[in-house]
Amino acid sequence: NIVYLNGEYLPADKAKISVFDRGFLFGDSVYEVIPFYQGVGFRLTEHLARLEYSLRALQIQTCQDWEAILNLLVSQNGGGNLSVYLQITRGAGDSRSHRYGDDLSPTVFACCTPIKDIYTAGPDDIVPMKVIVTADLRWHRCDVKSTCLLPNIMVVHQAQAQDADEALMMRDGKLTEGSSCNVFIVLQGVIYTPKRGSEILGGTTRELIMQLADEHAIPSQEVDIDYEMLKTADEVWISSSTRGVVPVIEIDGDQVGDGEKGPLWSTMFELFIRYQQ
Ligand code: PDD
Repeated sequence: NIVYLNGEYLPADKAKISVFDRGFLFGDSVYEVIPFYQGVGFRLTEHLARLEYSLRALQIQTCQDWEAILNLLVSQNGGGNLSVYLQITRGAGDSRSHRYGDDLSPTVFACCTPIKDIYTAGPDDIVPMKVIVTADLRWHRCDVKSTCLLPNIMVVHQAQAQDADEALMMRDGKLTEGSSCNVFIVLQGVIYTPKRGSEILGGTTRELIMQLADEHAIPSQEVDIDYEMLKTADEVWISSSTRGVVPVIEIDGDQVGDGEKGPLWSTMFELFIRYQQ
């Protein structure tokens, strides 16, 4: 397992960072999770654009050839199907202090783990999910992919305790997203998803779903979704880079639609597979 740390490629157990790294002390850092299939980054441009957006939002200044760094990391790990994790922290000071100067040099870390190629899977390989709905306890800059993930971890643990796979969150009566995914509902043949803004992450998979819907004349709309709308939906899906688009068949213990993977999900899943090939 070779990882990348500040310009070096080295075995994971040889990679060391400072105890004063602000990523460790304060969660003062951003990240991306990018799937590579057969050694090639999937929607890499979109992921890197979002990374630059997150870095800019937190004023972390670094200029790197991300594509070259990640491609070399992937080939050092044998290529194939890998999920690449890339994290950039503001860097390490010489003591713990909330304030920071402009002399810090960002810490850049990347590693990868094997994943299944969901895009060459068949629809029968996709296991539908059970979810709970809970309060969104996060900050108001969820558009920034920061590593401050404590609220996300708390809600997914709550889901696990209730025998569910994911937690969907609601703020001010509106559905936002899952602990590590975006969310879609289908009502009478129309796909609805929460509006893009500072309350959700602009998911790369979410964007692809909206693009595919547009290209194939499937009506889709960004709207506010309340609990009632969610619970009466014909279909519910979640989306993320590592999971693709997955149907939800149970919400808070109640069946969604007829409790099966929905017909519009099957269509979208097919479009996904075709898009990648
Ligand atoms: N999570 N919303 C949140 C809060 C997320 O953490 C993620 C991704 C998404 C989906 O974004 P994308 O489609 O670009 O993967 C939405 C990654 C996979 C993670 O934290 O592991």
